[in-house]
Amino acid sequence: EAPRRVLVTGGAGFIGRALVERLVRGGGQVTVLDDLSSGDAARLDPGARLIEASVTDPGAVAEAVSGADAVFHLAAIASVARCNEDLAASHRVNLGGFVNLLEAAAAMKTRPALVYASSAAVYGDNPDAPLAETAQTRPLSPYGADKLGCELHASAAATVHGVRSTGLRFFNVYGPGQDPGSPYSGVISRFHRAASRGEGVTIFGDGLQTRDFVFVGDVVEALLAAAVRQEGEASEVLNVCTGHETAVLDLASLLAGLTGRPVPVTHAPGRAGDIRRSSGDPGRLAQTLGLRPSTGLAEGLKVLVEHG
Ligand code: UD1
Repeated sequence: EAPRRVLVTGGAGFIGRALVERLVRGGGQVTVLDDLSSGDAARLDPGARLIEASVTDPGAVAEAVSGADAVFHLAAIASVARCNEDLAASHRVNLGGFVNLLEAAAAMKTRPALVYASSAAVYGDNPDAPLAETAQTRPLSPYGADKLGCELHASAAATVHGVRSTGLRFFNVYGPGQDPGSPYSGVISRFHRAASRGEGVTIFGDGLQTRDFVFVGDVVEALLAAAVRQEGEASEVLNVCTGHETAVLDLASLLAGLTGRPVPVTHAPGRAGDIRRSSGDPGRLAQTLGLRPSTGLAEGLKVLVEHG
């Protein structure tokens, strides 16, 4: 049974909108807290109520949380590059926003189920693949450091205030609705846009770097399951990944096959700090939530090409 009164912070963003749509369809009363700094209100499900405010505003957070049975915290400055440039401001959102939420949850008599977005960025460049949650965390970016900070605060909030939570370490999420508009947008959204325009793509480096691409629909399933979680720790942390690695170079050929048009590839110098190999072990997710992201890349890309 899905929770009835639900708050989604960052509900106007890529993953948030997909979750909200699913919650509304399931009959939930959905409130979205989003400052629309990168979210898109026009594409938000009209069945949701929008509070246009930032998670950095403790009053707005407390008001939005009150009465919720479940809280999904997805609000963040998700661009790693922007966080690098805007250190203090992004820290206030990415860690400070979550601490505001923990405080609001701790003050509630009936505690909501709390699920928040963490990231594979907490691992940094760890070549042991696939990475289990027990692998060493060594974030290389302020974004990753703040996400790890969220996990540490979640653990402390469980100890001190008895706040139960589930942090989901998202790997490379893709699917319809992801904004391809910035140079730091997800590689699949960028390649898809280029392919649909008949343009070529740029690959940074040799293209043999790998990622664990997880379809947004599977991420939504994991979020929903985490909100009704029975198993596991008071402050649980779970990878959301497939366990499969795909080289960036192979994405271009997959898209060419799906669109029926060649996707010419240009190589540019590798990105500074680019991770060479990334894939996660989905075992704990399966064990704790009883589900496994199952949409294969070819299948997910097909949905993207048809609907995206
Ligand atoms: C992703 C996450 C980031 C997280 C990090 C943790 C996204 C959008 N970003 O970054 O939030 O901190 O994982 O590990 O999911 N590439 C190209 N050409 C392009 C764009 C990208 O070759 O036009 C390459 C990149 O150099 C990289 C790979 O594709 O090797 C994936 O890039 P990107 O989608 O930006 O994600 P990550 O860098 O993995």
